[in-house]
Amino acid sequence: MSAYRAHNVQRSDSEVVIAEEPATQNLTGSAAITIDRLTKRFPSPGSGDEFVVLHDISLMVHEGKFVSIVGPSGCGKSTLLNVIAGIESYDGGTVTIHPKAGRSGAEPRIAYVFQNPRLLNWLTVEGNIHFVLQAQNVPRQKWGELVAKNLEMVGLAGQERNYPLNLSGGMQQRVAIARALAIEPDILLMDEPFSHLDAITARKMRFDLMEILTRAKPTILFVTHDLSEAVFLSDNIYMMSTKPARIFKRVAVDVPRPRKLDDSTLFDLEKSLVREFFSVVEAKA
Ligand SMILES: Nc1ncnc2c1ncn2[C@@H]1O[C@H](COP(=O)(O)OP(=O)(O)OP(=O)(O)O)[C@@H](O)[C@H]1O
Ligand SMILES: [Mg+2]
Repeated sequence: MSAYRAHNVQRSDSEVVIAEEPATQNLTGSAAITIDRLTKRFPSPGSGDEFVVLHDISLMVHEGKFVSIVGPSGCGKSTLLNVIAGIESYDGGTVTIHPKAGRSGAEPRIAYVFQNPRLLNWLTVEGNIHFVLQAQNVPRQKWGELVAKNLEMVGLAGQERNYPLNLSGGMQQRVAIARALAIEPDILLMDEPFSHLDAITARKMRFDLMEILTRAKPTILFVTHDLSEAVFLSDNIYMMSTKPARIFKRVAVDVPRPRKLDDSTLFDLEKSLVREFFSVVEAKA
């Protein structure tokens, strides 16, 4: 067995998938994450009942692809990423994280940029990055280079010895992004990572992320409520409705990279998705 059963936080009434040896090991297009008919419930506030937050969610993320999940506030996007990361349990269906093709037996390296930075405030900026490098058993002699390279990438060179609470919210979020990238992940989960940044910084970070995608080819699962951002960055977009969250549309963005912000194909796609998104979401409201 070489693919990974999803997570040991899964409840006993859920089926656990252990995939066989990856059949597509030498092909491009191997699955990195497979979610099949996932259901998740939370307790309803103030009662003994539960409510369904995620209902019958199925999606697949292929290796090296950039996949976005778009949905209204409160629909369950962060919950979905938390389930994939193994932080939250789930109630039905399966979540499978596959080993990287050609690396049978080696667990994929997963990094998570949370919606809030979640830095360790008692450690310096570089201390926060060292913390995850140590946890991932990255050899100490590589730490200096990884810290410098990734802080430079997020525009924070020179902040190594500063403490998180001395930084603005946007700077803290950029440290969190540098921390995630420093482990050179196979799978990068990102929850609205640019939503706290000013428009100019966010735009630069989107281009930098595209550049990383071209070089290192991590698999990226990206949550946003910004359709323009999703269209610009993604290979595939899953659109979610709410109450409970369901996937109502999957869109392929067949525009070659590098992309231009003023590309008319992207713009037209965004316009049609905005129209569809509001018609579905407003019908549910
Ligand atoms: N630990 C929890 N216990 C109970 N309910 C929760 C918990 N976490 C989230 N919820 C509820 O689940 C629903 C989905 O929350 P979630 O944070 O996943 O939404 P979201 O799509 O990420 O929203 P946003 O875009 O505002 O970040 C909300 O109704 C929220 O109140
Ligand atoms: Mg969220």
